[in-house]
Amino acid sequence: MTLTQIHKTPADWRVPPLLPPDPAPFTWDEARAWVDGLPGGGLNIAHEAVDRHAAGPRAEHVALRWLGRHGEREDLTYAELRRRTNRFANVLGSLGLTRGDVVFVLSGRVPELYVAVLGALKAGCVASPLFSAFGPEPVRQRIEIGEGKVLVTTRSAYTRKVEGLRDRLPALRHVLLVDVPADAEPPAGTLSLAALMAAASDDYTVAATEPETPALLHFTSGTTGTPKGAVHVHEAVVMHEATARFALDLHPDDVFWCTADPGWVTGTSYGIVAPLSRGVTSIVDEADFDADRWYAILRDEHVTVWYTAPTAVRRLMRASGGRIEGLDALRFVASVGEPLNPEAVSWGLEALGLPIHDTWWQTETGGIMIANTVASDIRPGSMGHPLPGVEIAVLRRGPAGVLVTDGEVEPLGPGVEGELALKPGWPSMFRTYLGQPERYAACFKGGWYCTGDLVTRDADGYVWFLGRADDVIKSSGHLIGPFEVESALLEHPAVAEAGVIGLPDPMAGEVVKAFVVLAHGALPDDTLRRELIGFGRTRLGAAVAPRDLAFVEELPHTRSGKIMRRLLRARELGLPIGDLSTLEGEEPT
Ligand code: PRX
Repeated sequence: MTLTQIHKTPADWRVPPLLPPDPAPFTWDEARAWVDGLPGGGLNIAHEAVDRHAAGPRAEHVALRWLGRHGEREDLTYAELRRRTNRFANVLGSLGLTRGDVVFVLSGRVPELYVAVLGALKAGCVASPLFSAFGPEPVRQRIEIGEGKVLVTTRSAYTRKVEGLRDRLPALRHVLLVDVPADAEPPAGTLSLAALMAAASDDYTVAATEPETPALLHFTSGTTGTPKGAVHVHEAVVMHEATARFALDLHPDDVFWCTADPGWVTGTSYGIVAPLSRGVTSIVDEADFDADRWYAILRDEHVTVWYTAPTAVRRLMRASGGRIEGLDALRFVASVGEPLNPEAVSWGLEALGLPIHDTWWQTETGGIMIANTVASDIRPGSMGHPLPGVEIAVLRRGPAGVLVTDGEVEPLGPGVEGELALKPGWPSMFRTYLGQPERYAACFKGGWYCTGDLVTRDADGYVWFLGRADDVIKSSGHLIGPFEVESALLEHPAVAEAGVIGLPDPMAGEVVKAFVVLAHGALPDDTLRRELIGFGRTRLGAAVAPRDLAFVEELPHTRSGKIMRRLLRARELGLPIGDLSTLEGEEPT
C-alpha cells in the first residue's frame, strides 16, 4: 500500500523536536552561536566535535562505538578521542606537515580513520577520506589533484592500489600504515602509524584556523573531466550542528548510526562531524551491508536515530517480511543520496514502525538542505521542504537543455519542472573545486547555485526529484562520472572508444553499462567482454566499474564530438529518442 500523506502529531515524537516551530526568523548567526569557537578566537571543526565535549561533563560519554567486522568492539570516549587526535596532530607536525597540507585516508571504517580525519583538522591540515572500494586509478587521480602529502592507509590497500603508482605522486611524502604494529618493520617507503602514535605527546593546541580555512576535501564527479575536489571550510561545522538538530533531530543522549562510508560526503558530514558536534554516541560499523547484522546493531546498540541510504532500505525490504522486533529505542529514520521510493517509506512504517524521512543534499552543499523533518507530514516520494536558512528556487532550463543565461534566470512556480537552485550563503557550501575555478564559476547563474538536479515543487512547497540534468550515474547511492569510466576503459589496447551510461536497476537505482567500439583487429567475443569488465574492475574498483558491457560498431556523437550518452540510454531502454537538437547542445559539466 502506498500512502499519499503520512500525518504526524506530537504523539509521534518521543522528544520535543529541535526544529523551530516557525523557521521564518532563523538566521545562520543563530547557529553560529551553537558552536564554541576556539579559546583564542577562530573556529576548528575538531574543537567543536571533540575537544569542547572532552573539556566538559561529556568527557566520559562514548563518542564513537566501533563494531569490528569479526565481532570486536571498542568505545572511544570524547576524552580518549581528544588524546588520540592530539597524538595524530603531533604526528603530522613531526612529519613536517603544515597548515593547508592535504592528508588522505584510504581505509575501511576503523578507529584510525576517524582519528586521522579529526587529528588532521586539529593540525590545520585538510582531510580527505577516500572510498576504500576505489581501485588504483580513482585513488591516484584524487591524491594527485589534492597534492596529498600524507596517506593513511592499510598494508594491503597500499600494495594493491598505491605502491605501483607512487612515482606518479611526487607530492606524497609519507604513507602511514594503520595495521603495522609499533614494533614491526613497515614495508619499504611506509611508516607504522602505531609506532608514530606511541611516540607522540597527548597534548596539542588546536591550530588557530578561521571559519574560512579549508578543512575537508571531497571528490565528486561531473559528466566530463577529472574528478572535482569540493573544498569545504571549518565553518561547515555550523551547518552540521544545525542540520543535526533540524533534519536529524539529534539530542545529546541519542545513539546515532550513519551507515555511509566516510569516503563519501555523507559519511564525513554525518558519520563524523555532525554527531560528534552534537556530543552524541555515534556507531561505526566496519562491516559491509548484511540485513541480519544491521537489525542486530539497531537492536543491541539501542540506536535511536538512523541515517541510511535508499539502496540499503530496498535491500532490507527484500530480506525481511513483517515487523522487525526489538527496535524499541529507534525513534527517527532518514535516508539520502538517491530517490527514496514511496514503497520504501511505507515499508518503514510496517517493518520499523516509523516512516523513512527522505533528505536531499550534495557533496557541494556539504550538509542537508531539503528534508522531511521529525515534525512535518510526509508525502512519500517527496524530498520534503528546504530547512530553515535554506532558500531554493526551481529555474527554467532553455531549449538546449542547459540553463538560460544569467540575466534570464527565472524562478518557476509550483508544478513546473526545472533545475533546483540554492541561494548561496549557507555555512557548509563548498568554496571552490580545487584547482578548477572555472568549473566552480560555471555552477552559478544569476546569483543562484545550480545543482544539476531536475525537480518540481507542489502547491504546498514539497520538493519532488525528477532526475539529473546531466549524465552522472548514481549506483547504490555512489555518484559515478561516466567520463572517468570511459577513460579507464580506453587504456585497454582493444578499446578504440567507450560510452558509459547508467541503466535503471530495482535495487541499486542505476547500474553502469559500457558501450565499446573495438580497435582494429580486436574480436568482439565473450572472452574479450569478460576481460574488459575485469580490466574495469581492477582499475576502478567494483563500486565504479561497468557491470555490463556491449560491443558496438560506432557511438553517437554531438556535432562538437562528444558522446551522446542520452541517446545511448534512450536506445538501450527503447525510449523515444526525443529532441536531437537538445542532445546536440553543449552539455553541462
Ligand atoms: O542527484 C542528487 C542525488 O545525489 C546527488 C548528490 O550526490 P553526492 O554529491 O554524491 O551526495 C550524496 C549525498 C549527499 C544529488 O545531486 N540525491 C541526493 N539526495 C537525493 C538525491 N536524489 C534523489 N533524492 C534524494 N533524496
